[in-house]
Amino acid sequence: MNHEENELLCRIGPGTAMGTVVRNYWVPAFPSTQLPMQNSDPIRVRLFGENYVAFRGDDGTIGFLDESCPHRGAPLVFGHQEGCAIRCLYHGWKIGTDGTILETPNAEASAIRKGLKANAYPVEESHGLVWVYLGPQDTVPPRPKYVWEQEKPEHTLVVDVDWDCNWVQALEGLLDSSHAGILHADILKKFPPKMQADGDAMKRGLLPRFELERTDFGLHYAAVRSGAGSTADADQVRITAYAAPFVTFVPTGGMAFIPVPVDDTHTKFYNVWWDPDERLDSGPGYEHRLDMWGVTEEILRITGMTPTMPPVGEIPPRNVWPQDRVAMRAGESFTGFDGITAEDAALAVGMGPIVDRSKEHLVASDIVISRTRRILLKEARTVGAGGEHSKWQTGKTPPEKITAASGDLLANKNWRDMVPDHVAI
Ligand code: FES
Ligand SMILES: [Fe+2]
Repeated sequence: MNHEENELLCRIGPGTAMGTVVRNYWVPAFPSTQLPMQNSDPIRVRLFGENYVAFRGDDGTIGFLDESCPHRGAPLVFGHQEGCAIRCLYHGWKIGTDGTILETPNAEASAIRKGLKANAYPVEESHGLVWVYLGPQDTVPPRPKYVWEQEKPEHTLVVDVDWDCNWVQALEGLLDSSHAGILHADILKKFPPKMQADGDAMKRGLLPRFELERTDFGLHYAAVRSGAGSTADADQVRITAYAAPFVTFVPTGGMAFIPVPVDDTHTKFYNVWWDPDERLDSGPGYEHRLDMWGVTEEILRITGMTPTMPPVGEIPPRNVWPQDRVAMRAGESFTGFDGITAEDAALAVGMGPIVDRSKEHLVASDIVISRTRRILLKEARTVGAGGEHSKWQTGKTPPEKITAASGDLLANKNWRDMVPDHVAI
């Protein structure tokens, strides 16, 4: 990739080609917990390089507006929530969740309110996530409902972490199966019994063979580890699905990861887990997910991966990566980092805010990454030239059937049979 392509791939601010691409899709805006049903205060949400204000009305609905007051641009996040509206602190304009200007104490109502509306965006709340659609408001597509939304909410868990780097760096980590057995070698040893076979296979097969296929929602690929199955004649396969542009389904078990561009150099990384057999809102299932994935409150706080977003202004850099060099020297820890999340984030953030991909030397096992870049770049060039966007996830594959899978791949078997609902293109 050259510099121009890297810029095209990574920049998502208003008016950029990739920014136009990503605005065509529903995107997680924030976890529901940030706006509790009782006594919630307005919050500032930064997405795709722009600021918004979100607040919860008395009836529980969420308002999602441009942060700038339509009067003279004061930040609405400082305002009061009143009923199902927000009142600007500066001159008291009151704006409803749908953007209607309800009161203008410093202006004649009839004159100013005629034809004026604040920009309000559609939101949907489901299973701990608030989604928003920021694209053209005359054609709002239906929101794809994913597999975890079929579970009881208490059987799902969302944890968000903050990475000080461009979202594509986070995405590329998710699509890179060949690092799992190396960077995460220590954690794999701690897999619980039902994930043990996968963990062992990843350790044994450091050089997987990749088979990739385009699908109508993006792509899926298999990482096949020869002879690493549970029996002598079986290979092991891990299938990852990428529902472009944001959502990645990764084996093992019920997991999806959603890196969302906050701006060009900050990413909100959502971990989503679900388990039909176990509740995840509290108890052992909850504890285990946090511990296994290294997203306990303590780790997130120490590494600066928790939100510390100020109400206005630039987001200060805050990710730090304490490394246990004593444990590394003693051979007790390969990375010295505390958990998978810190390992992934430290490497991606450590590349710099936007890594210079013109200096890379890609190898065969980077095929999924190079293919994903090509797909995204092609889309950006098409949309940037005024063409139609691809409408990923509106094809024949039902969004709730997009999934990851893993297990033994016996001779003469096709891994595509393990994800039968994915439609190839
Ligand atoms: S800037 Fe908001 S009411 Fe004046
Ligand atoms: Fe990783």
